[in-house]
Amino acid sequence: MSKKTINNLRKEFPLLKRKINNKPLIYLDNAATTQKPNYVIKCLQEYYTKYNANVHRGLYTLSEQATIEYEHARSTIAQFLHAQPPEIIFTSGTTASLNMLARMLEHTINKDDEIVITIMEHHSNLVPWQELAKRKQAKLKFIALTKDLYLNMEEAAKLITTKTKILAFAYVSNVLGAIVPAQELINLAKKINPNIITIIDAAQAVPYFDINVKELNCDFLAFSGHKVMGPTGIGILYGKFSLLNSLPPVNFGGEMIKEVTQNDASWNELPYKLEPGTPNIADAIALGKAIEYLNQLPREKLLQDLHKLTKYTVEQLQTIPHLEILSNQYSPHPIITFSIKGIHPHDIAEILNRDNICIRAGTHCAMPLHKYLNIPATSRISLYYYNTIQEIDLLTKSLKKVVKIFQ
Ligand SMILES: Cc1ncc(COP(=O)(O)O)c(C=O)c1O
Repeated sequence: MSKKTINNLRKEFPLLKRKINNKPLIYLDNAATTQKPNYVIKCLQEYYTKYNANVHRGLYTLSEQATIEYEHARSTIAQFLHAQPPEIIFTSGTTASLNMLARMLEHTINKDDEIVITIMEHHSNLVPWQELAKRKQAKLKFIALTKDLYLNMEEAAKLITTKTKILAFAYVSNVLGAIVPAQELINLAKKINPNIITIIDAAQAVPYFDINVKELNCDFLAFSGHKVMGPTGIGILYGKFSLLNSLPPVNFGGEMIKEVTQNDASWNELPYKLEPGTPNIADAIALGKAIEYLNQLPREKLLQDLHKLTKYTVEQLQTIPHLEILSNQYSPHPIITFSIKGIHPHDIAEILNRDNICIRAGTHCAMPLHKYLNIPATSRISLYYYNTIQEIDLLTKSLKKVVKIFQ
């Protein structure tokens, strides 16, 4: 995308215009959450001002309109993932999707069964499995990394066995930016145990690349709306129809039932079986709009530019004394994690904030990974389509200032 087009894109994100202390906002924490375009923001206002009503219930115009829009969002997301609409369950986000799934799969796990994840997991794709393993006295196993911090596929081949019931992994690490060869890993796992349940945490993948659940042949996939320009509080659990249909619901209430007696209940069809109560209607519709917005962007070109910007950022960071890049320096994925010798990441983030530069500091909800790498905490820059070279130049200048302060 030419410079002019990036500027046009930026104009569609009102928050990017914000100044604090007369300094422009430089938002480099996109792996935590992305900014929202007017297209999404306006849709939220439209829902609340024009057709706010509960879905699937009312026999009046507002409710019918809300239902049509809500189901339209589901279809948009289904198409985006190459799935069918009943396979798309609205949840409050990746964390909620994975927690719900862990409880839905609980009855399939027995003592000494294995659950395999990777050492790179976000706590959201670790703790639900850890808790499940504890409840069922199952074994939680971690696939480690290669020397250059990619998933060790040779180790995966040894770790996954016929006892492995669940394989759950992040498509992209939120700390290292490492992309897991998802299809290869799933094929490998299914070869070892055809009945294994494969689960992809796609929170950091969906914002960047096309996902085809049919090609990946994953059983489940989760992502969050807010990381892909949609609102907070909304996310997706995709599941293969046959699996979603056969697994028991774990949350109960209105809408998810077919019939209720004093002593029993039967379940509604998919996807409603797994969406009890009033859903997050406005945000679901807005997530549909975010995906529509993403679909109409020149994504291939934007991604190419983003890869160039990532390379440029790495080159600039390498000019800063005592700075060490932890994430893979040759990975084009726009997540760059680093440390500066002798300076705590919180101090770095705090000083950058004085220049209105937003980056992340800490363990990024991946404590076991930091422990594995023997690093207490790190700083993380994550870029999105609207970031520019000028912003990286200001970041570099500001980081040089940080180093000087601590010299
Ligand atoms: C890889 C990964 N998984 C899961 C999550 C959790 O997402 P959420 O907090 O939106 O549920 C995140 C958020 O940073 C993430 O990066």
